[in-house]
Amino acid sequence: MKIAIVTGGSGNLGKFFSKELLKMNYKVFSLDIKKPKISKNKNFIQYQVDITDENEVKNFFKNINNIDLLINNAGIGVYTSSLERTSEDFKAVMNVNLLGNFLMTQNALKIMIKKRKGKIINIGSIYGVKSSNFNIYGKSKRNNSEVYSATKAGVIMMTKYFAAHFSKKNIQINCISPGGIFANQDKKFVKKYENITPSGRMGSKKDLKSVLNFLIDKNNTYVNGQNISVDGGFLAW
Ligand SMILES: NC(=O)c1ccc[n+]([C@@H]2O[C@H](COP(=O)([O-])OP(=O)(O)OC[C@H]3O[C@@H](n4cnc5c(N)ncnc54)[C@H](O)[C@@H]3O)[C@@H](O)[C@H]2O)c1
Repeated sequence: MKIAIVTGGSGNLGKFFSKELLKMNYKVFSLDIKKPKISKNKNFIQYQVDITDENEVKNFFKNINNIDLLINNAGIGVYTSSLERTSEDFKAVMNVNLLGNFLMTQNALKIMIKKRKGKIINIGSIYGVKSSNFNIYGKSKRNNSEVYSATKAGVIMMTKYFAAHFSKKNIQINCISPGGIFANQDKKFVKKYENITPSGRMGSKKDLKSVLNFLIDKNNTYVNGQNISVDGGFLAW
């Protein structure tokens, strides 16, 4: 049985990735800062871990000696205006989106290098590639932040850095950058988002499935360091 670790496993996309992996017969270790809800699936094992805490991450990895896949999915944003940004908020986003990703990758790589095999998928964002378009947010209070974009650009760069450095160890590290996933957001926002998206709709979790399958396929040993946007063409315009 293959083993996967999914960070932010209690969140919207984390739950989806975990379910897909369980269907593919993976044992899934789900890490989240939130207290886990009870699950009857013995292959879905949840740990309450703050990925920004080096000791908590090290302690988790003490019990792990084999991993096939790490999905660095945990991520947060802040929604207030840049002019009101506090350094605490800025650092909180940096810590989860970059430091947490780094600590998980560093520990997972140590195991994968010994095995000379492994795959890591980072979850970036379209806003790590281009700035958010403020015309679509209006009064929805979901304005995207400079620090979210900066950290997601950082996630894409860490993907390339680690892929370049560990490719010879047969480790593939790629990034999936989703566009906005529909989750009953403000109606006006959704309409405006749809208007600036070539496919004319927001994404759904299911849209991420084919890229996940492709990246973790055992025959994929040569696609490395890529950022694949799953965005209905959002970045093409
Ligand atoms: N939903 C979207 O529209 C969208 C679009 C582009 C990118 N993304 C990215 O996808 C990923 C998942 O997003 P989501 O929509 O599922 O968000 P979500 O808020 O539903 O889930 C994120 C999870 O991460 C966990 N988390 C936060 N801080 C943590 C920490 N320090 N340690 C461990 N876990 C922590 C949260 O508790 C939460 O369960 C994020 O990286 C996000 O930036 C989402």
